[in-house]
Amino acid sequence: MINVTRSFMPPMEEYEEYLKKIWDSRYLTNEGPLLKQLQKQLEEYLGVNYVSMMTNGTISLQMALRALDIEDGEVITTPFSFVATTSCIVWERCKPVFVDIDKDTLCIDVNKIEEAITDKTKAIMVVHVYGYPCDVEKIQEIANKHGLKVIYDGAHAFGSRYKGKSLLSYGDISTCSFHATKLFHTIEGGACITNNKETYEKLQSIKNFGSVNGNYENVGVNGKITEFNAAMGLANFKYIEKIIEERKEICETYDELLKEKVIRPKVVENLEYNYIYYPIILKDEEETLKVIDALHQNEINPRRYFYPSLNTLKYITDKGNCPISEDISKRVLCLPLYNGLSKEDVTKISNIVINNME
Ligand SMILES: Cc1ncc(COP(=O)(O)O)c(C=O)c1O
Repeated sequence: MINVTRSFMPPMEEYEEYLKKIWDSRYLTNEGPLLKQLQKQLEEYLGVNYVSMMTNGTISLQMALRALDIEDGEVITTPFSFVATTSCIVWERCKPVFVDIDKDTLCIDVNKIEEAITDKTKAIMVVHVYGYPCDVEKIQEIANKHGLKVIYDGAHAFGSRYKGKSLLSYGDISTCSFHATKLFHTIEGGACITNNKETYEKLQSIKNFGSVNGNYENVGVNGKITEFNAAMGLANFKYIEKIIEERKEICETYDELLKEKVIRPKVVENLEYNYIYYPIILKDEEETLKVIDALHQNEINPRRYFYPSLNTLKYITDKGNCPISEDISKRVLCLPLYNGLSKEDVTKISNIVINNME
């Protein structure tokens, strides 16, 4: 079986080295020494002031909304993402206001944001889809003009750099997911990333029961990540460049075989890409389902990612006007991409795709 993804595993003895440290310190969680070390390494790698790691990317999104006091308000967001981007807004009792995407970059259409702003709008929360950048300059300009906070769901953005800076360094807070299937992972895990000290201190408090030096000054949750997760992150850390390099080669093989035949997201200038996913857009839903079926018959599992368009979710009352997202989500597929995927398998997958297109 070839799955859409497969977790990267560092050499076991390198993970064990970190486990020994946990056994020695008997520090299993609660912002232990390994977590502190990893956060520091990530701050340096990303070129940001603060990384506050949490249990996963979803909790990180919720904590980002909380830390910036986005309560009861409207949050402008994209319908073309994984469900967590929308559900965290609803979970925090805010209202997602969907703005359609740009058909080429698949990120939010910045030219449609301003018309969606009302006197209840408090934030813009958008996604660097598949690690490709949103128009960060324009979004910041709109946010400044209307006094809005900006949160980037950077679940896919680790390792992508735009204009020489990590994509995770933009906005009031960027979040990330370090889930097992991401290119850099801590098994489960996530982070809020910010350059603002006050925001960071609030995040550190609310992920830890609201504690500030032992006093419960904020309403908080338990969003802490363990030393075992940090150990996996530290063991994986030194392989980041190798992981990205290998994925680049796999994507280049896909490109050689498929580029002229399928639609691919438009790549903007000044991007150093992380090669986290290989999405293709087919002609229509019928063709997409046919390709999926043919791949399944060959024990290959692509992923309808993202499907459905989030504005169509059952619990969303105001569905907005998002024809582009609704259309693309019906005909987008992420093809298998992981470290160790062979050139032969990439060729086999590509040929099945091509042979089942109309
Ligand atoms: C865009 C996006 N946001 C949020 C998440 C949630 O991250 P996690 O699985 O770490 O909770 C994901 C997970 O894949 C994602 O793709």
